[in-house]
Amino acid sequence: MQDIEEIEKKLLSQVSTTNTPRDVLKSPDLKQLYGAIKSIADEQRSAYGKRINDLKLSLESSILKREADLDNAAVESIDVTAPWDINSVQVNLLPTNLGSQHPLTVEIENVADIFTRMGFEAIESRQIDDDYHMFGSLNFPENHPARDGYDTFRTEEGFIAPAHTSTMQNRILKAGKAKLESGGQIGVVALGRCFRNEDLDATHEHTFYQYEGVFMSNDANLGQMLGTLRSFFECYYGQSLKIKTQPAYFPFVEPGLEFAIEKPAALGGKPGEWLEMLGCGMIHPNVLLAAGIDPKKYRGFAWGGGIERLVMLKYGIEDIRHFESGKLQFLRKFA
Ligand code: FA5
Repeated sequence: MQDIEEIEKKLLSQVSTTNTPRDVLKSPDLKQLYGAIKSIADEQRSAYGKRINDLKLSLESSILKREADLDNAAVESIDVTAPWDINSVQVNLLPTNLGSQHPLTVEIENVADIFTRMGFEAIESRQIDDDYHMFGSLNFPENHPARDGYDTFRTEEGFIAPAHTSTMQNRILKAGKAKLESGGQIGVVALGRCFRNEDLDATHEHTFYQYEGVFMSNDANLGQMLGTLRSFFECYYGQSLKIKTQPAYFPFVEPGLEFAIEKPAALGGKPGEWLEMLGCGMIHPNVLLAAGIDPKKYRGFAWGGGIERLVMLKYGIEDIRHFESGKLQFLRKFA
């Protein structure tokens, strides 16, 4: 740990003097610290991982501060008292290279790319929907209390702002029915915005993104689903992961499961620290019947997870509300 302190001091001092503070994150010293994780004794590994994570956070915050200082120093001051000739003034446009893609845009594409490489078709989910796709087609009985769990926004005309991407299931199944019945499979991932009228905190937003997977064949099973999800998460985080499931209730799957991964040490996790990533299960026969598919001949599985929570774990973002905040300091970290 002594070494880490010295390296931290050295890197922080580099950040405070360089004009390209973000380059400090590529320092060989930092790489060496990460590389050492493998050789640390089991009982010390989690403390070591946490210490490295703290170092990364403190570097990140001094980088942001240094970047803001550099930006501020570059701002030309305008003398508002100077004489001004309207004919000589040119409009001072903001250079376009100051902009960058929003981290969620980048990560949504990343998620879609991984599933596309696994053979799934990626589509965008709808942002306005109806009661049938939100509830009826998903085996929620009329007036069933499970409907309340989704804190749905409705328009005065009775339209619904979808509270999950599962609203796409019925459409995906209907569109793929002919292919399935001619011996093919359905493999689609729908990504898009969801809305819930719920209390906001560090992990809950009113507007967030989900990714919904639907797979159908004549012999789909839970083993295939768990294998698919494990491959996705390992590819997304670039490392091998431990996974586990526990039973959960969703009216549109039977059995229904919650899928969790063990938080990797390299991302500041301790052994036994499980993170619930998504809901999933075998598609309920009533959902297949609603799409005109015979549940005796065909089986499928589906999952739905939150994209912000995926990204938060990847980058150590502590509060989901940063994403929609429009704060440049946050956004520039991903430029
Ligand atoms: C659902 O939305 C189900 N439709 C998931 C599903 C699909 C189950 C297919 C079975 C088959 P849930 O309400 O648990 O389930 O939300 C799924 C994920 O969305 C959560 O794990 C979380 O990552 C994300 N999520 C839910 N509410 C919020 C919120 N307010 N802010 C940010 N993320 C959220």
